[in-house]
Amino acid sequence: MIDCNPGFDVAPWHLRWCGLDLDALLRTESIFALSNGHLGLRGTLEEGEPVGQPGTYLNGYYEKRQLPYAETGYGYPEVGQSIVNVTDGKIIRLLVADEPMDMRYGKALEHERVLDFRSGTLRRNTVWSSPTGRTVRIRSERLVSFTDRAIAAIRYEVEPLDGEIDLVVQSDLLANEPAAATTRDPRLAAALDRPLVADFATARDYSALLAHHTRHSGLRMAAGIDHELELPGPARCSVQVEDDLARVTIAVDVAQGDRLRLTKYIAYGWSSRRSTPALRAQVAAALAAGMETGWDTLLRRQRDYLDEFWATADIEIDGDPELQQAVRFALFHVLQAGARGESRAIPAKGLTGPGYDGHAFWDTETFVLPVLTCTVPSAAGQALRWRHSTLDTARRRARELGQSGVMFPWRSINGEEGSGYWPTGTAAVHVNADIADATARYLAATDDEEFETDCGVELLVETARLWAGLGHHNSSGDFRIDGVTGPDEYSALADNNVYTNLMAQRNLREAAAACARRPEMADKFGVTPEETARWHDCADRMALPYNEKLGVHEQSEGFTRYARWDFAATTATNYPLLLNYPYFELYRKQVVKQADLVLAMQLCPTVFTAEQKARNFDYYDALTVRDSSLSACTQAVLAAEVGHLSLAFDYFVEAALTDLHDLHHNVAHGLHIASLAGTWLCCVGGFGGLRDCGKDLFFAPRLPDQLDRLTFRIAWRGRRLAVEITADSATYSLLGGDSIRLSHHGRDFTLDADPVTLPIPFLRSRPAPELPDGRRPYRRF
Ligand code: BGC
Repeated sequence: MIDCNPGFDVAPWHLRWCGLDLDALLRTESIFALSNGHLGLRGTLEEGEPVGQPGTYLNGYYEKRQLPYAETGYGYPEVGQSIVNVTDGKIIRLLVADEPMDMRYGKALEHERVLDFRSGTLRRNTVWSSPTGRTVRIRSERLVSFTDRAIAAIRYEVEPLDGEIDLVVQSDLLANEPAAATTRDPRLAAALDRPLVADFATARDYSALLAHHTRHSGLRMAAGIDHELELPGPARCSVQVEDDLARVTIAVDVAQGDRLRLTKYIAYGWSSRRSTPALRAQVAAALAAGMETGWDTLLRRQRDYLDEFWATADIEIDGDPELQQAVRFALFHVLQAGARGESRAIPAKGLTGPGYDGHAFWDTETFVLPVLTCTVPSAAGQALRWRHSTLDTARRRARELGQSGVMFPWRSINGEEGSGYWPTGTAAVHVNADIADATARYLAATDDEEFETDCGVELLVETARLWAGLGHHNSSGDFRIDGVTGPDEYSALADNNVYTNLMAQRNLREAAAACARRPEMADKFGVTPEETARWHDCADRMALPYNEKLGVHEQSEGFTRYARWDFAATTATNYPLLLNYPYFELYRKQVVKQADLVLAMQLCPTVFTAEQKARNFDYYDALTVRDSSLSACTQAVLAAEVGHLSLAFDYFVEAALTDLHDLHHNVAHGLHIASLAGTWLCCVGGFGGLRDCGKDLFFAPRLPDQLDRLTFRIAWRGRRLAVEITADSATYSLLGGDSIRLSHHGRDFTLDADPVTLPIPFLRSRPAPELPDGRRPYRRF
């Protein structure tokens, strides 16, 4: 039997799973998913079964479904969207001397899968003995190309290990494959049962193409496969095609010492506008290009693409090999989620699984785009172009809800609101300021004038208009934004949520600044001097509730007057609270689902004094239960800033291992892309202390005792920088581009060709806050 315990090995540049564990299939399929942001393949086994959840996704390709309500209300979205498992091209079935290769039967003598962060491939090595005792070695390697975004490819080899064996390989293209139910809602299950309607099917020689459309959303797609074969002798090859299945079959006798090798190229295309013949041509062309490029060149391009990525984005950690691996795993998946989305959203799960119906949330702008802006800026720009492409829909939604400017959706695939839970779907308006924040940050980091003209100014202006209309001045002149839901979803419809107000303030100021910078664009959007004056006035008078007695900001007005949640009476099994208590109870208590005020302190760092940050952090950390994976990273960043380095490290561990250790028990449905991005934020914003204020970078690095050294790289305004942190100093190096002014712990300096090493000031440690019982950060040992 296999000589290893199922689980991940620790290694710096890859993730290896040894052994077959059927119970872990769903989880490993998400973790081993390959994607380029346009096309995503779950890490299922080639032979199609055993399978947890088959998954092949095209970014933006969805089916519509009715949203169910027991009682309706004005403005409730009626139609939602769900990501579709499209035609599966990755299935390669194998018959070994009459026995279907299925790892639930026979014996797996060796079995490992390796996700390689440098080659950008998933490799597999299996030695399997069939129930009748015939033994073969199967090797495969697959990629979803970063450079040729419509293409995936699989190299698949079978080698008999005990004499000559007749082998039959069936390489499939399968539409409407049965999938495990991901919902208890029968209406959604019905919408997603056989969602693809056949339009066209063809096959010839070793190639095939199937075209379909979705029944309700009417989106068209086509998928094609073609093969290169390396066979040791004469073979019988055939191809068959039906509406939902195309199959290339190869039957061949292979002697021991010989092998059968097949390279499968898979191409996809989809469109809401192009006709089926046009899509057919597009996919056939992509396939021809993929075949012409060939496996070796696809592999080389993949490697070159990743070499370039790691040269700009890598993080090195000394002192904790598991965290080193986790950080690279995280960066690899963030890249996979965003690299080639090209004017499409970055969903909360990327393209790794059907979780959250494939929707994108504020997660993208607040957690993922800050990382991409500093590592692959073009990908951040593309994601924001998607938001811009949905402006008309957001404008309509604002009109529908009686508001000015735009209201972007809380969750969506196509720009329409997809949330049926109105306290978020209508009231979590901060998503608009989050989009403006990501826009402003991207512009500061890149000076991308084309983006500014095409999208940036309009995004800032239209979101600013929302705030100016949504808030109001009270009798003493303060500008209030009442009745909103902030990031902490255990509070809703709260007045003057500090996070929302501060982000709106930034939004209003950035919009006014963009109009001053680009007066011709301001004219184009009808922005008058009176309007920008009003934006300034709203921003300057923004209400920020503060409890003088406690000496802390209020997450929202009156929050600190509520009863504290009874943490002592809440057992570990009662978390997450939203599944065990009514919202009614949560909303009227001091308990925080995920960082809210603490996130405001990270994103608007200059608004708070150092003392306020320390007091606020201690107060809110004691109330925060992290029922969302979007919290640990923010808590890490602020814990590091206020001097709780050891606690910051603990939160970093939790963020970094959220998916690898399945801390939220739902990796089966897909990875938590924002939390993965948060791993970068812990290193760079937390231990690097980086805050970007406009075009300027301020660092305040400090290492926790648990790490010996941390190095990170960032791209900023055409430059590439590296920062190496040890216990007592930090070294800044310019890897490319012009010299730059930086700040280190409040001291300005110029970085040019020569690295600069500066000492890290002494830190007086403070006692860590009392954390909710049963909700301490995750510990490995
Ligand atoms: C969080 C939201 C987040 C969503 C998707 C929820 O649990 O509370 O803030 O946007 O998950 O990740």
